[in-house]
Amino acid sequence: MSTHDEPRDLTTIVRERYGQAARRASEGAAASCCGPASSCCGASAASGTADPITSNLYVNGETASLPPAAVLASLGCGNPTALAQLALGDVVLDLGSGGGIDVLLSARRVGPTGKAYGLDMTDEMLDLARKNASEAGVANVEFLKGRIEAIPLPDNSVDVVISNCVINLSGDKRTVLAEAYRVLKPGGRFAVSDVVVRGELPAAARRSMELWVGCVAGALEESEFTQLLGDVGFEAAEIEPTRVYDIEDAREFLAGAGLDVDEVANEIQGKVMGAFIRARKPGVSRTPAFRPATASDLTSIERLLATAGLTTAGIADILEARASDFVVAEDPGDPSELVAVAGLEICCATALLRSVAVRPEWQQRGLGRELVRRLVCEAEGRGLRALYLLTLTAEHYFPRLGFERIERGDVPPEIADTLEFKNACPASAVVMVRTFTR
Ligand SMILES: C[S@@+](CC[C@H](N)C(=O)[O-])C[C@H]1O[C@@H](n2cnc3c(N)ncnc32)[C@H](O)[C@@H]1O
Repeated sequence: MSTHDEPRDLTTIVRERYGQAARRASEGAAASCCGPASSCCGASAASGTADPITSNLYVNGETASLPPAAVLASLGCGNPTALAQLALGDVVLDLGSGGGIDVLLSARRVGPTGKAYGLDMTDEMLDLARKNASEAGVANVEFLKGRIEAIPLPDNSVDVVISNCVINLSGDKRTVLAEAYRVLKPGGRFAVSDVVVRGELPAAARRSMELWVGCVAGALEESEFTQLLGDVGFEAAEIEPTRVYDIEDAREFLAGAGLDVDEVANEIQGKVMGAFIRARKPGVSRTPAFRPATASDLTSIERLLATAGLTTAGIADILEARASDFVVAEDPGDPSELVAVAGLEICCATALLRSVAVRPEWQQRGLGRELVRRLVCEAEGRGLRALYLLTLTAEHYFPRLGFERIERGDVPPEIADTLEFKNACPASAVVMVRTFTR
């Protein structure tokens, strides 16, 4: 898709189509990126049924408080903010922000100390997005006019780049990815929903299928996408399918485009999908400093726990009375914000290991393991009899640190009575224990 004369034509076509879509959404109709003549963007354009690409991406609770026009204008193929692990205080940039749905959702997640930028080249979309933001009463957003191939933001200024079904529309994807890399801070995250293709498609089918999923689309093959991300400097690139499109959804469109659908079905089925694409800009290689918590860490610890979806119940009391039951890690380059925390809730001769949280950009560096290791030593050093924990996702990890699974009913009453156990523990969490011989 990336020839030299293409971007200008492509840009004009894309801008016209999304201008039209924005006008429809402003008038209270669901946006479709294509006019009736071209009948693309899913079966809905032709049949009037729910679009299998853009429909049901958000759960009701998420969009309930957004202006209806922001929801109607949604033309994405995923839900990047749900998957991106946004932290309070983050600066987020949405490439091709359309009517602003993901910008508004991001703004809520990053809170008043953070900021969400939307970037779009289509005036009508920008007008709609600004109107939606003002109706939603959200202050920490800004919509910028520009092309995703030349992002109008300084180097190293953004924590997370998101995007929802836009990069496939660009005729110069390498430049888009290089721009995303440039504006991200070291350690910053790329967290994007887009259409990708798995493996080879027959040329005619590919072109028709691309037209179906994205009007003037150029969905990348998944290994090509990870290769490009690596080429521009990203690390840890991963692609996770979120919705595999069914050939039946595209049947009417493909037949209209002159393809014998039954003939190509086997070559297309299961190969075109909405996916979540993540990668990271390498960080400055800094070693975090570990230390016991102090009472003045309260706000930062609460922010970390809220970002990780963990309870803050009882934290203020513990820090007030026994702050050193918690261990924290700080970034020596920016000690104002803690990067990880874990703590003990001690009850008589036993304790609950709780509140293990690591900032997203510091994950996968062994910080969680180191904090747990330190607290296990601390518990043993204090002569405790046993250390309990609850986990939803790391049952296979903790045996390496000497923990074993037990039944819920085997937990002693003093642990079952802890704030974490009572307040934050879904019934599905696994209980584990490490016992110490004295
Ligand atoms: C498929 S819509 C997605 C909109 C939005 N992300 C959503 O989920 O509803 C594509 C949007 O990207 C914008 N767009 C497409 N190509 C662009 C480019 N090269 N630079 C800036 N904006 C672009 C269009 O104007 C349109 O608003």
